Amino acid sequence: MIIYEKLDEIHKKAIDEFGGALNREQLYQFKVNYLGKNGLVTELMKEMAKLSVEDKKEFGRRINVVKQDLETQYTERFETLKLKELDEQMRRESLDLTLPPPRQPRGNPHPVHRVRDEVVQILSRIGYSLRLGPSIETDYYNFEALNIPKNHPARDMQDTFFVDDTHVLRTHTSPIQIHSLEAESLPLRIIGTGPVFRVDSDISHLPNFHQIEGMCVDRKISMADLKGTITYFVKEFFGSDLKTRFRPSYFPFTEPSAEVDCQCPICKGKGCSLCKNSGWIEIGGAGLMNPKVLLAAKVKYPEWTGFAFGFGLERMAIIKYGIPDIRLLPENNLSFLKQF
Ligand code: DAH
Repeated sequence: MIIYEKLDEIHKKAIDEFGGALNREQLYQFKVNYLGKNGLVTELMKEMAKLSVEDKKEFGRRINVVKQDLETQYTERFETLKLKELDEQMRRESLDLTLPPPRQPRGNPHPVHRVRDEVVQILSRIGYSLRLGPSIETDYYNFEALNIPKNHPARDMQDTFFVDDTHVLRTHTSPIQIHSLEAESLPLRIIGTGPVFRVDSDISHLPNFHQIEGMCVDRKISMADLKGTITYFVKEFFGSDLKTRFRPSYFPFTEPSAEVDCQCPICKGKGCSLCKNSGWIEIGGAGLMNPKVLLAAKVKYPEWTGFAFGFGLERMAIIKYGIPDIRLLPENNLSFLKQF
């Protein structure tokens, strides 16, 4: 009977197509084409109405066998394709463990820290070693012990952030000198460094900046030792193209005192906004230690004498790298910092 032949033909074609499906999506589409609501097998069932009762029974039985077989074929093919697709996916996403790992972006030291490390390095070559001190100091260590008594005009030079009546955010690293003199034995060559704080802010001043302090206490220390040390240090740090000069100055803790200037790296001495048209930038102060400071720290003067100096690290950084505005340093903008 022609309807049985049709069924066999559809069955065979479906088996072929299921077997040839390339992926699960295509396979599902094929299943719908045969077993779906308007699929070929379903359509054929509608023709059953024309058959006799006997044939209906027989055809119904056969069509059920076909449907069941196609369901089985579908499930088997589905599982095969699933494995195949998984296999392909694993091949595509395979890891080659012998490849070098992707590069991790690395940070680099802040320019102020680079300057600090370099200065420490340079001075350690001539016998200096590093000391740190607290950022909050008592009035005694920040001022009194350094011969800056209350109401002394020098206190105005360093407008101070007070923490309470007797404690301040240190305005300079010079208190480290006193801590070291009190705790250590002579002779001494030390460097002190760290943050300092002052009520001050413009193109060349920051309210929070960093200093590096040097102190040498030994027998027969003179101004010549100070000049020799600073000249060595400044040349090592800046190289020889920028000139430096000493200017007579005043600090309560040194006598005599000098200010150390370096030629402006932006205008090379011609005058610009950074150096306020002077051609020079002050990097710090220096001098022979005032006997009052030594005696207050129980150092036997004049058996022992000393010199000291204190430089601003940010100042040194802007000079060394030719940075046009000191405020770029604490801003920590990454596109600026990445250049160092
Ligand atoms: N402490 C001074 C300041 O902050 C800098 C200074 C000057 C330090 C002379 C010294 C020195 O050790 O001898 O302005």
